[in-house]
Amino acid sequence: MREIFPNVYKIKNQFATQSIAPGVRVYDEKIIKQNSREFRIWNPEKSKLCAAIHNGLKHMPIKPGSNVLYLGAAQGTTASHISDIITTSGLLICIDVATKPFEKLLHVAEERENIIPLLADANNPDDYSEFIEEKVDVVYQDVAQKNQAEILIKNANMHLKKNGYALMAVKARSIDVAKKPEEIFKQEIETLKKAGLIIEEVVNLAPHEKDHVLILAKKVK
Ligand SMILES: C[S@@+](CC[C@H](N)C(=O)[O-])C[C@H]1O[C@@H](n2cnc3c(N)ncnc32)[C@H](O)[C@@H]1O
Repeated sequence: MREIFPNVYKIKNQFATQSIAPGVRVYDEKIIKQNSREFRIWNPEKSKLCAAIHNGLKHMPIKPGSNVLYLGAAQGTTASHISDIITTSGLLICIDVATKPFEKLLHVAEERENIIPLLADANNPDDYSEFIEEKVDVVYQDVAQKNQAEILIKNANMHLKKNGYALMAVKARSIDVAKKPEEIFKQEIETLKKAGLIIEEVVNLAPHEKDHVLILAKKVK
């Protein structure tokens, strides 16, 4: 076992996080016990952040102690691994607009004291300002919406600290089915750049996710 980023481990050809809620499975993830520690295998077919790590993401801005705003947390699959990485010294504010996945997310949050689940629309970042006392270190977004760059920019402007990072998963088909995915990725990147974000990495998520990229951008102003 090798630690490739703080609190992210490589076990043979798989990645894993050390569970902060031992004995509790969030999805159907495999669990490995070593000495008195429990590791949850992170599935790249179910988590775009893990797919990006598999595909060579170079810089991982989410670390132990990070405060993270997660837009589109759904039932908490990726959120649970982020919760492991940041540990209880960090905080993960999870936003989702849909009630069905949110019910599952509530169960995940019950077992993990560093998750704050909020049923809200990420189009309106002011709606959850009262829960974000200090600007966050990272905004992670996976909303699969046509206006997702706009959503990210609004949230980064309001809630991301200077020198903080944004990670945005782009699903080309959610934006325009008629355009080539490469054109859409370029368009989304340009929109983020125009808003003053510096693009640091663009990782294609194939074969785990077809026609998707994960963009890592830095807020410098
Ligand atoms: C692709 S799923 C996210 C999967 C999740 N990120 C994971 O890896 O476990 C997209 C989620 O974004 C949510 N969503 C879409 N539009 C949203 C919005 N405007 N505000 C908040 N959540 C939104 C959907 O309800 C859905 O749960």
